[in-house]
Amino acid sequence: MSPATASAVVPGAAVARGAGGGLPTVIGGCPAFLTASVRRAVRAGGNWQAVADRVAGVLRNQFPSPAILTRERLAGDPAGYQTHLLHAEPDGSFSVTVMVWLPGQQTPVHDHLAWCVTAVMQGTEYEEIFAPGADGLRVIARNCNPVGAVSAFAPPGDIHRVRNNGTGVAVSMHVYGTDISRVGSSIRREYRYPGQ
Ligand SMILES: [Fe+2]
Repeated sequence: MSPATASAVVPGAAVARGAGGGLPTVIGGCPAFLTASVRRAVRAGGNWQAVADRVAGVLRNQFPSPAILTRERLAGDPAGYQTHLLHAEPDGSFSVTVMVWLPGQQTPVHDHLAWCVTAVMQGTEYEEIFAPGADGLRVIARNCNPVGAVSAFAPPGDIHRVRNNGTGVAVSMHVYGTDISRVGSSIRREYRYPGQ
């Protein structure tokens, strides 16, 4: 997930990922030991789910602190949830981001360009998982992910929406199997769904 990239929603099940307002800039701040461990996990290879599961193991063992962001960035932005790009691997194989959500902020319903691993660093993130059906999307799971929760997934079957349902700022790390600094967002498609 990246900041809502303002794709125009058109009739139909899905819409193309928007280009948004330009490519994100790498701000740095990902601990070197964590970057190195993720790099080893990615280079060990295998299919997307295998890579994501291995990266999830890295995050569980080397769990990041919200303090890797400045106090200003941790404050969030009333304009929308924020995605801070900490690292983009030079060979394009992965990116590390930290997202900051004020209460009530949420992503669109979306799927992804590649595998993704998330780790909740502060607050609780509420996630709905969807599956396509004959008459549109339906919710097949609802998860409340507290601090310490690490999730790994890979397309297909990765349609979801994430919201900060809490009363404080939520913070989470997202590692993606693509280069966000070049493709702009991890989102492949956004979907029409009530509550958007
Ligand atoms: Fe996502």
